[in-house]
Amino acid sequence: MYLRLNEKQYNRLENILCPGGSWLFPDNLGGMLARKISRSMGWPVAPGDVVAVMEGWGREILSHLAGNISTAYKGQAGPTDYSRLWTAYSLYYLPANFPKVLRVLLGLLRGGVLPKKLKLLDIGTGPGTVSLAVLYFYDMISLVAGKEGLSVEITLLDRFREHLDFALANIKSWQVLQQISFPVKVNPVVCGCLEKESDQLRKLLNTGGYNLVVPSHVINEYELHDTTSALDVVQFALEMTADNGSLVIIEPATEGISRRIARLHWQLKSAGLATAFAPCAYPWKKYPGKQRRCACWSHACEPWHKPASVQVLEKYGACSKNDVDFNYLILRKDGLNRFKAHRNPGKYAREGYVKLLHGYKYMGEKVNIVGVATNVYRRSELMIIDICDGTCGTHNYCYIEARGNCWSPANDMLRSVRHGDFIDLRGVGVAPGARGSHYTLKLSGDTKAVVYR
Ligand SMILES: C[S@@+](CC[C@H](N)C(=O)[O-])C[C@H]1O[C@@H](n2cnc3c(N)ncnc32)[C@H](O)[C@@H]1O
Ligand SMILES: [Zn+2]
Ligand SMILES: [Zn+2]
Repeated sequence: MYLRLNEKQYNRLENILCPGGSWLFPDNLGGMLARKISRSMGWPVAPGDVVAVMEGWGREILSHLAGNISTAYKGQAGPTDYSRLWTAYSLYYLPANFPKVLRVLLGLLRGGVLPKKLKLLDIGTGPGTVSLAVLYFYDMISLVAGKEGLSVEITLLDRFREHLDFALANIKSWQVLQQISFPVKVNPVVCGCLEKESDQLRKLLNTGGYNLVVPSHVINEYELHDTTSALDVVQFALEMTADNGSLVIIEPATEGISRRIARLHWQLKSAGLATAFAPCAYPWKKYPGKQRRCACWSHACEPWHKPASVQVLEKYGACSKNDVDFNYLILRKDGLNRFKAHRNPGKYAREGYVKLLHGYKYMGEKVNIVGVATNVYRRSELMIIDICDGTCGTHNYCYIEARGNCWSPANDMLRSVRHGDFIDLRGVGVAPGARGSHYTLKLSGDTKAVVYR
């Protein structure tokens, strides 16, 4: 019921989605959106790619759109008015949010919990960012691994009928343009406010019937009347999530939101409602982590090949977006996390893997470990990677130390590690702790390292 790819297929998939380690936005989707916007606004539709179409609108329109972006989320409290923003949103925020969804899906796939038969609830659909990215991701899977057994069922939920109509049209066109050949079913849309009409919404939805529920950029101060209702909205989303499904929260990259997400996780975990699949299972002893320097547990920052439409809007004055910066949290009800799901406990034990919690017992010896990079510090020749596998309960339990001046293949491999990456080390030395950690993992010439996104 979950998708499995072999290593070769993974590599092909990653090369398509994220060539050279930078996320790619499909040009044909940009072109499709630009042409759609041209037609609905009565603007000229120049032949050619997205740049040609947009430049055909002229300086005045483009400066106006760029201005919409700069002022979209400034100095306002309460729900954003999208009636005049969708055009700019679709060419700027949609392409910026698209890779966030891809990255999360890749994490679910790597963790072994991405369903073959997907039932998606796209909460706060907007122009359909999440659904478009999901269709693209599954289409690329069908490309590298075949479409056998794949299917996607989509349910859209938003406060505004116009958003749902726009998203629906985008999804239909995207399906045709991509020539998607596995079964796709789009259910009747669900329109209503998550804060004020949740009871009506419950009646329209299939409670517990969705194995992927994604509120992306919904539970923040730009959308909700009151952010204290974020917990209610997340609990609602959790109700809709199947027992073997994932609830994926994606949010902007502010520190305030990062803390709110950590707090939400803590509240749900304490109440026994859900646990984190990713970014990590149990990162900090105390939430929201005020006592720690790092407020970025749920933070991810990824390089991208800047989409053409974003480049055009930047040229006309929109703020520049040089990477894909966001917060995310994946929740599950079955206790699975990316470590449990990733490692077959019996197999890993036989292969000599130890939990990070027990690493200090092997002082002076070599061990095999897996974990996620929670922090990466680079200071000239020294690189320190905080690592966590969900067993240690504190942020700085142990870390990996690498020195640039002593070359080794593992050192090289870890050079490019980023916050949130999954690390698999074999034959790493256990040394006394420093800087507040219990112990240090030291690389040597024969340490073997593998890094996943
Ligand atoms: C920033 S857009 C996000 C669109 C898309 N998910 C993305 O990630 O690009 C937020 C969307 O959530 C919807 N929304 C915000 N608050 C809502 C609420 N209380 N109930 C239902 N929909 C809501 C808005 O109408 C808007 O379409
Ligand atoms: Zn952790
Ligand atoms: Zn961090």
